[in-house]
Amino acid sequence: MLQGCLPIYRDSLGPAMTSSGIGLILRQCRLPHHSELVDLAIKDGQIHALASHLDVLADQEIAVHGKLVSPPFVESHIHLDSALTAGQPRWNQSGTLFEGIDIWRDRKQSLTLEDVKARARATLQLQAQQGVLFVRTHADVSEVNLVALKALLEVREAVKDWITVQVVAFPQDGVYGSPGNDALLEEALKLGADAVGGIPHYELTREDGVQSVHRIFELAQRYDRLIDIHCDEIDDDQSRFLEVVAAWALRTGLGDRVTASHTTAFGSYNNAYALKLMGLLERAGINFIANPLINITLQGRTDTYPKRRGVTRVKELWQRDLNVSLGHDCIQDPWYSLGTGNMLSVASMAVHICQMTGQREMEACYAMVTTNGARTLKVEDSYGLEVGKPANLIVLDADSPYEAIRRSATVTHVISRGKLLAQTQPPATSWLGPPAA
Ligand code: FE2
Repeated sequence: MLQGCLPIYRDSLGPAMTSSGIGLILRQCRLPHHSELVDLAIKDGQIHALASHLDVLADQEIAVHGKLVSPPFVESHIHLDSALTAGQPRWNQSGTLFEGIDIWRDRKQSLTLEDVKARARATLQLQAQQGVLFVRTHADVSEVNLVALKALLEVREAVKDWITVQVVAFPQDGVYGSPGNDALLEEALKLGADAVGGIPHYELTREDGVQSVHRIFELAQRYDRLIDIHCDEIDDDQSRFLEVVAAWALRTGLGDRVTASHTTAFGSYNNAYALKLMGLLERAGINFIANPLINITLQGRTDTYPKRRGVTRVKELWQRDLNVSLGHDCIQDPWYSLGTGNMLSVASMAVHICQMTGQREMEACYAMVTTNGARTLKVEDSYGLEVGKPANLIVLDADSPYEAIRRSATVTHVISRGKLLAQTQPPATSWLGPPAA
């Protein structure tokens, strides 16, 4: 799962070129897993050239000085409709998933298009200025007017020139939790949602949960959409909808068009069952999204001690070459009153609670908030540091993915569609004490 070496291209740019139409050039970039520093030229919104030295003038130059230049972060799991509502109408006192759902059920009664759009755009800007340029958001469609969905579809279009947003139709209260929910889910797809969501472990019965998975696959095939299911987000070791999702991905051939989010119960399964399940998951080829900030917070709430971590088997999935990405899930909402949108915080939490502190493991966690996320969202054609691809990239105040995670490095430059979108100065400290050594 480690990202392979990126190819260095020397294209038609010759020596001593002085007029080129190059809009932006970054000098002395350190690409992930590359020892040689390169110049990166951008023209017409695309990566035009990558070489050890480009003798060319550009409208704008950025001296990177050997810092890490990376593909942008991918936020593969967030709820923009509930973002920035923490404390409305009340705080989550128990800290559980289920109290969060109850609070959100009350809050969403007062949703308006403008309310959702304003919070979603503010959150997207917060994310983008920290290097996130691809986002998959869930939109609650268990609400009769589909306000959240309509608002996020509008936002998706309004921001598409600087950030890519995918919208999942998410039946928060279950496909069969109320009589009209199934029809609302289908209506959301007709309106243009990119993916079908679900929450089988929250359906009223296990049979409803299994039936909801069948229904989700049926809708995905009928409307040709991706699937991203909140699956087994509970500590119950008997919550086993992941096997149903994987089996249907296998039978339908949808494979990597399917994503299982959370799967926290997988962390509680006995090892004999987990081993059997792993074989099925390998055959199915689905994607996984863990949300370590939220999983460590919401899960384990009914435990005394020892208290479970409540996160899925990230390391073991990665070791079997299954595609795992990481999401923030919540930013200041009924489930999580914290959150900054910083994907390095997410990666760092995964390093800790998944015990992935080996060098290759930490690099893998960086891939989980970058390239693996692009694979989950199926945006690989427009993602990556390769000549001819859209110029979406970030500069970090670090010289490696490991250092970026360790120091929670500042993203100093965000370049979207070939244009500088955001700049941030790293913090600087003036030491006024006696010499340390
Ligand atoms: Fe979620």
